[in-house]
Amino acid sequence: MHKTSPQKGWKVLFRTTQPAPPPLSVGHANMSRHLLAWNRLRRLFHNRLTLISAFIVCSVWLLTSDLRSPAEWPSLPGLAPNPPTPIPPPKRMSNANYTVPPLGERVLCVGPRGHLLTKSPDDDLKEIELEMPYPTPFTGSYEALGIDLTFMSADGRYGPYGFGAEKDSYTRQRVDWDRVDWARLQNDCFERNAHRFPPTAKKLENTLASYRFSFRNLSQIPEVRHWHEFRSTRRTAVVVRVWRGYEYMPEDMFYLRSLVAEAALKTGGEYQVILLVDMKDYEGNIFGSSEEYLQGLKSAGIPPEFQSMALLWDDRLLSSWYPDIEEHRTMWQVYQPMQLLALHYPEYDHFWQVELDMRFTGDAGRYLDRLTSFARNEPRKQAFERSTFMHMQQMIGDYDEFFNEVDKVHNGSAVIWGPLRIPEIQPIGPDPPTRFAKDEHFKWGVGEEADVIVTSFCNNVLNAHQWVFQGWLGGFSAGLKTPRFFCPPAIMRTSRALLFVIHEAQIRQHLRVPSEATPPSFALWHGLKFSFPQHPVFWHERDDFATQEKWWKGGPAKSSTGIGPDDIGHPRGYGLTFWWETDWPRQIYNAWQGRRLDDGVPRPWILQDRDGQIYAPSMLLHPMKHSR
Ligand SMILES: *[C@@H]1O[C@H](CO)[C@@H](O)[C@H](O)[C@H]1NC(C)=O
Ligand SMILES: *[C@@H]1O[C@H](CO)[C@@H](O)[C@H](O)[C@H]1NC(C)=O
Ligand SMILES: *[C@@H]1O[C@H](CO)[C@@H](O)[C@H](O)[C@H]1NC(C)=O
Repeated sequence: MHKTSPQKGWKVLFRTTQPAPPPLSVGHANMSRHLLAWNRLRRLFHNRLTLISAFIVCSVWLLTSDLRSPAEWPSLPGLAPNPPTPIPPPKRMSNANYTVPPLGERVLCVGPRGHLLTKSPDDDLKEIELEMPYPTPFTGSYEALGIDLTFMSADGRYGPYGFGAEKDSYTRQRVDWDRVDWARLQNDCFERNAHRFPPTAKKLENTLASYRFSFRNLSQIPEVRHWHEFRSTRRTAVVVRVWRGYEYMPEDMFYLRSLVAEAALKTGGEYQVILLVDMKDYEGNIFGSSEEYLQGLKSAGIPPEFQSMALLWDDRLLSSWYPDIEEHRTMWQVYQPMQLLALHYPEYDHFWQVELDMRFTGDAGRYLDRLTSFARNEPRKQAFERSTFMHMQQMIGDYDEFFNEVDKVHNGSAVIWGPLRIPEIQPIGPDPPTRFAKDEHFKWGVGEEADVIVTSFCNNVLNAHQWVFQGWLGGFSAGLKTPRFFCPPAIMRTSRALLFVIHEAQIRQHLRVPSEATPPSFALWHGLKFSFPQHPVFWHERDDFATQEKWWKGGPAKSSTGIGPDDIGHPRGYGLTFWWETDWPRQIYNAWQGRRLDDGVPRPWILQDRDGQIYAPSMLLHPMKHSR
């Protein structure tokens, strides 16, 4: 087994917190101590014995296995001979320059009104600039990400997708949405643009006609796939997590339509939007036949316009592939369906997981592009270290100053430099170009696509005593001391390579960490490129520096490890625009759409009134709890 001691930095970060066991003292007069010691000795002896016997059995096995032919295997009824296939060490990525060239010019695609997009004002967003300074976010930066400083009214933003269509004042061409086939529009768009992509890029056939998921025992595809078996296609799947029985409200429809039109159609097919449908406790066998699948689709309640871009799955699929991972539920293993998506639909380089209860108040495709290009242009050095702090302009200034501050704390070095070694993982990521991080000057990784893009700051699990999943893991020899990180929420972009190695580790080694720790931890263990583009997030009180201080906690300069603030406590995030427990996004959205707010709920300060219209800046809202 491939074993390396953890890097020096980890000794500081992951000091053993458990006290050393007391020495065995049998000579003590105290009876209970005697018993305790005896039990301990017995357990030790027993463990040793088990280990020694296991070792002997294994050695004999290994020594003789070459001599044995499969024919000599005992053939018991129902127990097929299953000779162990040795697992070759994974191929590692080289340190070649992985800079991706820009794709050719985008070719216009046809939208839901049958017109070429951007040549059809009814399909256009109405973005405006306002004569005022753009609001400064609580965390994150428009400038660092290159997000346009524009505003939109609810009509300017969602009008193309049916917002306001019930009113006489709606001036856009109305659409019979049930007759729109978003999968076909996406595929037509890809075909118009196919010449811009490598030949390996493919369209996604209508998912009704080409459903590929199947139980592991019936699967026609290899159980494990590797990064080096696939060429880049330059395409990204945008995967929306939905479930059977979900009640689609008009605003969900506006959101989903906007996602397809802006991410897939307006980018000339660089993204493909897919609905990944959790069938919950559906009784039927959707994998049985196409009739049964269609019945399942009916039961899932997917609106007609999205049916041919929906892929159904259920818990049985997960337990068939991952029988040794004890938990498949979303809270623990939200990435399992995504891992299987990558395995069965490997024609995407990257997979964005997005949620139904999310909104892009600006153009969704452009927003994803900005997050992606920030990640692509970010150097690998200290990318993880930076992702453990919030960038707050009002505390430290622009992103360069934040960047330099993190560098200063690390004295030009880094804690993560190449793979973060743990005994279970043989990394696929490259070795760093220099032995020491301080000898590399932020060139490594620039221009290379990131393997994981997270959307909020990361935490060290070992310090996160408040985190309910802190003790949930399995298959690691260091147990709870295994270095791992979580970056909630599970809205992330993961590469095919990363999803493949997570899948392999789950089916072969039964390794498991909770959802929000899965992509970040595996990316770090494998030495894959990591990025946290700090997108703008607002707070419900304007210029509330006192609260900001409580999140900032002195920033990188005050951190003794350079990996997040020493004190991981912070105020509740109820009033943030992007935070798991916040309710402010709903208030912003309602006020923006002209709905009445509950008594005592103030008008969100980031909305701007002009000429009887309400305008919102460009940002990500999450979560959006439903309201009628
Ligand atoms: C990597 O390649 C790109 C274009 O192919 C080039 O612009 C860039 O300078 C290269 N980077 C390094 C570090 O060699
Ligand atoms: C295949 O696996 C599924 C789910 O794990 C199971 O229900 C089914 O009986 C299996 N089929 C065969 C032929 O073993
Ligand atoms: C950086 O250097 C200072 C002064 O030499 C030292 O106190 C500090 O521990 C170093 N920080 C790291 C992360 O190595």
